[in-house]
Amino acid sequence: MSAQVPITVFAGGEVGQWRVETVAAVSGPPLPVVPRLSVSDATHRGDTDAVWALRGLTSNTRYTRRDEREALAARQAGLGRPEATRAALIPISKSAAWWALAQDERRLLFEETSHHISIGMDYLPAVARRLLHGRDLDEPFDFLTWFEYSPDDAPAFEDLVARLRTTTEWEYVEREIDIRLVR
Ligand code: HEM
Repeated sequence: MSAQVPITVFAGGEVGQWRVETVAAVSGPPLPVVPRLSVSDATHRGDTDAVWALRGLTSNTRYTRRDEREALAARQAGLGRPEATRAALIPISKSAAWWALAQDERRLLFEETSHHISIGMDYLPAVARRLLHGRDLDEPFDFLTWFEYSPDDAPAFEDLVARLRTTTEWEYVEREIDIRLVR
């Protein structure tokens, strides 16, 4: 029996739909630079010669309130728009201090203190996004975040990541790699 497992694999190596422009270690140890990135679901073999492969699971939301979910749904764009020829894969891990907090404390830090969702809303629908979880798969990164945008919206994307990195939430980020891609 082969169940449909909602796992996505990002494999860095010689092949893939995306050409890698830069691989920057924002915090923590780096990842090897590779020429291409392939994105596939775990039911495919993918790039078996990959230099590295990161896996993430589609999961339920943890912090988004219903009104926020509706506001996001009303504004956000889907992945795969033909004009969105730029992408970013940003794997992130948070510290033990973050995971030791209670759910309500994390929500307060995430939104009421750091305004993650309200900052992000400023960049919709220009930036399309996807959040995958690696923590429960025992992966090296707690989260794999994925973004797609057009070349015209590249400056706005830089502004978005710069704003998020100054927040209190980011004081709990202990590893972050910023991988920029073109197709
Ligand atoms: C989580 C929105 C940009 C990194 C979330 C969640 C929302 C969200 C709603 C919460 C999901 C939940 O309830 O579990 C947005 C929007 C963005 C944006 C609208 C604008 C395009 C970014 C960027 C990064 C990022 C640029 C990385 C540099 C993360 C991470 C989480 C997250 C790591 C998981 C946090 C955790 O569970 O502790 N985002 N985001 N987001 N986002 Fe964003």
